Amino acid sequence: MQWERGLVTGASAGIGRAMAMQLAAAGVDLVLVARNGDRLEELAEELRAGGSGLEVEVLAADLADPAGLAAVEDRVASDEAPIDLLVNNAGLGYEGPFHAQEADQVSETIGVNVLALVRLTHAALKTMTARGKGQVVLVSSMASLQGLPMTAVYAATKAFITSLGEALHEEHKSTDVTVTTVLPGLTRTEFHERGRWDLGNWPSAGWQSADAVAAEALRAAANSRPEVVTGLHNRLLAVFSSKAPRGIRRSILGWNARRNWR
Ligand SMILES: NC(=O)c1ccc[n+]([C@@H]2O[C@H](COP(=O)([O-])OP(=O)(O)OC[C@H]3O[C@@H](n4cnc5c(N)ncnc54)[C@H](OP(=O)(O)O)[C@@H]3O)[C@@H](O)[C@H]2O)c1
Repeated sequence: MQWERGLVTGASAGIGRAMAMQLAAAGVDLVLVARNGDRLEELAEELRAGGSGLEVEVLAADLADPAGLAAVEDRVASDEAPIDLLVNNAGLGYEGPFHAQEADQVSETIGVNVLALVRLTHAALKTMTARGKGQVVLVSSMASLQGLPMTAVYAATKAFITSLGEALHEEHKSTDVTVTTVLPGLTRTEFHERGRWDLGNWPSAGWQSADAVAAEALRAAANSRPEVVTGLHNRLLAVFSSKAPRGIRRSILGWNARRNWR
């Protein structure tokens, strides 16, 4: 991998943790960001113990909190031990009818998935453009491809990310600064338990491991690709989604969501 130092948000668990481990294995120095400092310290110790002189910083911060976000923004823009890879991975989403969600949950979802991602991407692209080199990865979702009843806010935040990533990739085309958007489908992490999703009936073939998603995401970024849908089954679903008339997609998803929530 071509990077010297990567900053990964949401590195304490799931896909972010898997990406941090794969980057470390490839000799990329790291800055690990999430709220749970103990988990980050534990991971940092494990990575440093690899013995290759890897530098791993821990930056415990809540990206939904303005002070936490500002601290991470400062680190992204810093000229000391500069970041040449930003992985915007931290994210969350609650399942359930929109009107029944707590207003704070809605704000938290938009704060982390949208506002923090935009501010960190802005800080990174500003400094990377000045340096003439760098990469930003945006972790979106298959949920970005259509409105999703019962996870409406989450899907809308991800649609924002996919749209932003597509535009920013083109803005930086033909330069050594690139933006890659990653669209995972169902991935085995802590995500669904945190957001109280009920996916008990979902067939196991529809799931990927965090390691598999991380590997596909980093490969796509290393090749400066605009976008990657991870997993063959998700790529097939994405093609279907792009071909099916919007009204039909909406009716199928709406029917399924109402049936499950009755
Ligand atoms: N799992 C899936 O099926 C799936 C599918 C498509 C896309 N994705 C996307 O993949 C990304 C990673 O999710 P995951 O599945 O790996 O979930 P996860 O296991 O729940 O991990 C989420 C990570 O985000 C961090 N995080 C959450 N809120 C934060 C906050 N306010 N400030 C800082 N860090 C915060 C968490 O750390 P702390 O709790 O320590 O802060 C954790 O490290 C998300 O953007 C998600 O939308 C997941």
